[in-house]
Amino acid sequence: MSNVKLLLVEGYQEMSKVAAQLFAQEVKRKPDLVLGLATGGTPVGMYEELIRMHRTEGLSFSQATSFNLDEYVGLEAQHPQSYRTYMQEHLFGQIDMAAERTNIPRGDAQDLEQECSRYEQAIAEAGGIDIQVLGIGTNGHIGFNEPGSSASSKTRVVQLTPSTIEANARFFESVEEVPTQAVSMGIATILGAKKIVLLASGEAKAQAVRDMLEGEMTPDVPASLLQMHDDVTVIVDAPAASLLSAVTIGRAKTE
Ligand code: GLP
Repeated sequence: MSNVKLLLVEGYQEMSKVAAQLFAQEVKRKPDLVLGLATGGTPVGMYEELIRMHRTEGLSFSQATSFNLDEYVGLEAQHPQSYRTYMQEHLFGQIDMAAERTNIPRGDAQDLEQECSRYEQAIAEAGGIDIQVLGIGTNGHIGFNEPGSSASSKTRVVQLTPSTIEANARFFESVEEVPTQAVSMGIATILGAKKIVLLASGEAKAQAVRDMLEGEMTPDVPASLLQMHDDVTVIVDAPAASLLSAVTIGRAKTE
């Protein structure tokens, strides 16, 4: 498990609260920080908690910059299923972030190669990501880095696997509507973040969580490559931790 810090929590709500606290702590420490943000079902509760802190505790994001992990190829920003729309609904529209400092790859760019290098350069120019939140796919993907993604990969156009398309079909009218490609930060881009927080909730993630923490570091399980980073916190709820060994559980911290 290398030096990955593992926090075991009871369920989704507790996971979301603990994650939001880690983020809030960084925002307070460095108001002009660079946030690395994710989509999917997993971070919704954490975003809700950050919105609550913004409304009731005065947590401000007014000086922050953000970069999202990924975006579907072919969807324009206004598309209801684009990750831009998701972020607007679940976070940006409800806190005080400056719209011009929220970055998401343009999946509808004319020249996708150029968009990928522009994005990578923009992250570098912002000084790199201070804290990155990640979910995990059932096949161990992070961002849209599917199995086979190398540790040196940068932001690029990726092909989605049938299992990822299937898993994301719940957000679309039908599976045929799910884009088959995405622009995604690479593993090296993610590893460039100063701090990484990965969230996993639910039994469907149990195998991926086990492979990530107990398996060897391999591109076959992209999340396992996080073991080479020295500041990763993995927050896992009981169902997602259900396949972990007693040794791993023993090393974990309970909140
Ligand atoms: C998607 C996203 C990932 C996300 C993962 C898990 O494909 N690109 O960033 O972590 O799948 O999604 P969920 O949180 O909905 O389980």
